[in-house]
Amino acid sequence: MSNTAKLTLEGKDYELPTLVGTEKEKAIDIRALRKNSGYITFDPAYVNTGACQSAITFIDGEKGILRYRGIPIEELAEHSTFTEVAYLLIYGHLPNKKELGTLKEGLTRHSMIHEDMKNFYNGYPSTAHPMAILSAMVGSLSAYYPNVTNPGITEEEMHDNYVRLISKVRTIAAASYKKSIGQPIVYPRNDLSYCANFLYMMFAVPSETYKIDEELVKTLTLLLIVHADHEQNCSTSTVRLVGSSKANLFASISAGICALWGHLHGGANQQVIEMLEKIQREKIPVKKIVEQAKDKNSGFRLMGFGHRVYKNFDPRANILRAACDRVFKKLGIQDPLLNIAKELEQAALEDNYFVERKLYPNVDFYSGILYRAMEIPTNMFTVMFAIGRLPGWIAHYRELNADPDFKIGRPRQIYTGEVQRSYVPIDKRR
Ligand code: SDX
Repeated sequence: MSNTAKLTLEGKDYELPTLVGTEKEKAIDIRALRKNSGYITFDPAYVNTGACQSAITFIDGEKGILRYRGIPIEELAEHSTFTEVAYLLIYGHLPNKKELGTLKEGLTRHSMIHEDMKNFYNGYPSTAHPMAILSAMVGSLSAYYPNVTNPGITEEEMHDNYVRLISKVRTIAAASYKKSIGQPIVYPRNDLSYCANFLYMMFAVPSETYKIDEELVKTLTLLLIVHADHEQNCSTSTVRLVGSSKANLFASISAGICALWGHLHGGANQQVIEMLEKIQREKIPVKKIVEQAKDKNSGFRLMGFGHRVYKNFDPRANILRAACDRVFKKLGIQDPLLNIAKELEQAALEDNYFVERKLYPNVDFYSGILYRAMEIPTNMFTVMFAIGRLPGWIAHYRELNADPDFKIGRPRQIYTGEVQRSYVPIDKRR
């Protein structure tokens, strides 16, 4: 039985069709609403609005479910690699041996950036935030691979650009770190895996032999996998909206990087660590922080807590909390910030304010503690989020461009400004 929504407006009845997804999510299809009734819907921040149909990621916020192409995040976190997850998200299935081998070979072949791009780094102050550099460098890739702006570009040429981007984003990010500490940029090696190569480019120094720590490679793999996609979040929706104007891949991803930078979104992981460091430095009682977060006038929020969709728990936070204990034990390290984070989580989850509003730790609450264990600097945390989210952004860009009903995104508004009035010559103005 096909359900329809019945609407009565100004005495006239309208029937609106409905949509049901493969996971039983339901929507009222309002595509004909304005044409038939003259009304639009009003939903600031799109809290209740579906912008598209997508087959990439499924989230059930009430049950704490996250699946990439149907596979639970817990299984991917335990068994998969980031390269494999990137292929899964973009192409919809786990790669077979040949597909995975070809992707790995492409990631190795495309890991260098054009030598001329190295000059860009000389123009930035050493204090430049690496997200500013990342968004600029990714947008600039279209100058070196102009076929990406060609409307007739083939799927195979686009695949090469996906691989270039996923590979080079590591090189770009590591180079921004090296420049910020005055060390020479380290070129990628062809004998290292995706994550090992990134750690090598970040931490190798010419005078020493860099030893790959497999535990850190596994930790980075886990972090990138849990960040790889998250349906229509702010930055992914940005990539889709920019891509809907037929902006090229690199320009659309650069816009997504900028959206991710906001501290309410991907910038939260840096804010979480800065918050925990402040608590430690100033010996602020955890209860006081919780009280401050509840006080609307404080202008302070408990960073790393709360989520637009997860109203129970963020499965990624659970995975990363467990990883903190495992990795610290394996590396034989301690970090007082982990204890503060756990104490803060405990205090918040016992407080009615958080329980009533269903505010739980999100992916950003523990991720920074693992990045710290890997000696990645705090201002690089959101860059790490971007490296992880890149395959998801690419998958959505590809899905958007393959949509038979492709249209440029252009929301409506309710105008609340002045009604018509006339121009007043300056000598007649008050
Ligand atoms: C990410 O969308 C995604 O999927 C994002 C992401 C991804 O993978 O792409 O999961 C990654 O961005 C995770 C979120 C990282 N951001 C933070 O940790 C920043 C702190 N969190 C909040 O600012 C907030 O929880 C958001 C932005 C995450 C969600 O905001 P919403 O859904 O718009 O909720 P809201 O701001 O309307 O808050 C609802 C209530 C409000 O109180 P009341 O007005 O109802 O009294 O909860 C309160 C808020 O004041 N609240 C918080 C809070 N988060 C919400 N109060 C204190 N501390 C917080 N962290």
